Order: sequence, then C-alpha cells, then structure tokens
Amino acid sequence: MKEAEQTKEHYLPPIHDEEVDLKQLSVDGEELLHALVQEGDSAEDVYDRFNHFAELLMRYMAAIREVRTKFEVLNEEFSFRNSRNPIESISSRVKRPMSIVGKLRRRGLPMTVEAIEKCLNDVAGVRVICSFIDDIYAVAEMFARQDDITVLEVKDYIRKPKQNGYRSYHMIVEIPVFFSDGKRPMRVEIQLRTVAMDFWASLEHQMKYKKDSADRPEISAELKSCAETIAATDARMLGIRKRIEKLEKDRADSGLGGQK
Ligand code: GTP
Ligand code: MG
Repeated sequence: MKEAEQTKEHYLPPIHDEEVDLKQLSVDGEELLHALVQEGDSAEDVYDRFNHFAELLMRYMAAIREVRTKFEVLNEEFSFRNSRNPIESISSRVKRPMSIVGKLRRRGLPMTVEAIEKCLNDVAGVRVICSFIDDIYAVAEMFARQDDITVLEVKDYIRKPKQNGYRSYHMIVEIPVFFSDGKRPMRVEIQLRTVAMDFWASLEHQMKYKKDSADRPEISAELKSCAETIAATDARMLGIRKRIEKLEKDRADSGLGGQK
C-alpha cells in the first residue's frame, strides 16, 4: 500500500505550466499591489483588497482539490473493475495573479473579486491525462453526471480539432465547495486529453513563445501534420486495445478463461 501511495504521488504532480500557490502572491507582490490599487484608496483599503484576492485564490485551490478527488475516485473505481487505469495523471494549477490581472485588463473588466468569479473561467484549471480516447469520454461523462456538478460549457476539440491541430476535451464546470460561512459554487476549467495529445500540446505551447518563427506557414503545416499523425496513432492504439479485449472475451466465453 505504502508503495502504491508513493507511486500515485509521483503520478500526480501538483501543477503544470503556470504553477502557483499562495506563495505566488509574494512573487507577484509589488506588481500585484499596484494593479489592485484604486483611486482614493487608503492603505487599509489596499490591504483589504490584497487579502480578498488571496482568499479568492485559496477558494479556487479548494475547488481544484474537490475536482481532483472526484477524478481520483473514478480512476480507482474503474481500475478496480477493469484492471487498468483510464487516467494516467492529473495536474492542476491556479492562474498566476498577474495573469488574472492581465486578462481582466485585456477584457476591460474591473479589478474585483466579483469580476474574476463572474467572468473568468480558467482561474482554476485541472488537466486529466487519459490513456485512450474512449477513456476521455467515459471519464468526462461519469464526472459530469455527478449531481453536484454543473457543466457550464463543453468544447470538444477532439471531434472538432482547432485549426492548428490542437485536440483536447474542455469543460467549464461549477462545483460547490463548503467553507466556514457556507457553500459556494466555484468555477473550474477541466481539460481532458490522451498522453499523445498532451505531448503535442506541450511542445506546441513551448514553441508558441518563439512567435515570429512559429507563425510561418510551413512550420504551422508541419505541426498540424504531426497532430494528425498523433491522432491516427491514438486511434490505432484504441483499436489494438479493443482487439485484445475481444480476444480475451472470446477466450473466456469458450471456457478457456482460466488457462494461459
Ligand atoms: P481563453 O483561455 O480565455 O483564451 O479562452 P478560450 O475560449 O480560448 O478557451 P479554450 O477552451 O479554447 O482554451 C483554453 C485553454 O486550452 C488554453 O488556456 C490552453 O491551455 C489550452 N489550449 C487551447 N488552444 C490551444 C492550442 O492551440 N495549443 C495549446 N498548446 N493549448 C491550447
Ligand atoms: Mg484561448
């Protein structure tokens, strides 16, 4: 058991690209303070505003925990029944405070806790990496069916990939989290993808930062072609799994189940 737990820890890294916890508040510290100041603020007002912001991030972190636990439970139950894991790993992150500020500014929204909760869908993000394509739909469906989950939006970039070749299944959900003063619905962005889709998305994301070269048509075409090769491989891997399952079932049905 001990070993299994250690392995699981290893498989479930806390966070991905925009990793933060509340320590990030001090990393972004001064810049964030400046962003939060409004005209006529006293020092106390600024302090309050900063605290509200910190409290909000704490609440999003709690929502992430709830979502992760649900996926972990589904994974354990599924692997108990089917002797394999539909989920390879889960990662999560709270958006960096200065990224939140940047998004509010770009959209012309006020720098308030209310605007963040009402208008931003991706402050809390959970990424679920699945083994096979059909696992994504199975896991997403089992999660969405739970009666405390409200699905606000779905973007199926697997059935309908983005122009650049990006594939993943996205859900914006609301999950109730219980705090000392009651229950609050919290919004979380969930991205489900296969290992192969994640491989492509991670590398494409890194290369995006080299904007001038990455935008060249021949580079985009090559990236898109890689995405298609990867999608074809995902489909073949699923085909192999299904063939093995059928062979195993036929063996069991013909009474050879116990024999090797
Ligand atoms: P914004 O995040 O506000 O731009 O909303 P949106 O409507 O564009 O959301 P969408 O569901 O399309 O994308 C949300 C997240 O998915 C992004 O923040 C990325 O993490 C991921 N994503 C979307 N498109 C791409 C892509 O082309 N490449 C990679 N690597 N990731 C992507
Ligand atoms: Mg986007």
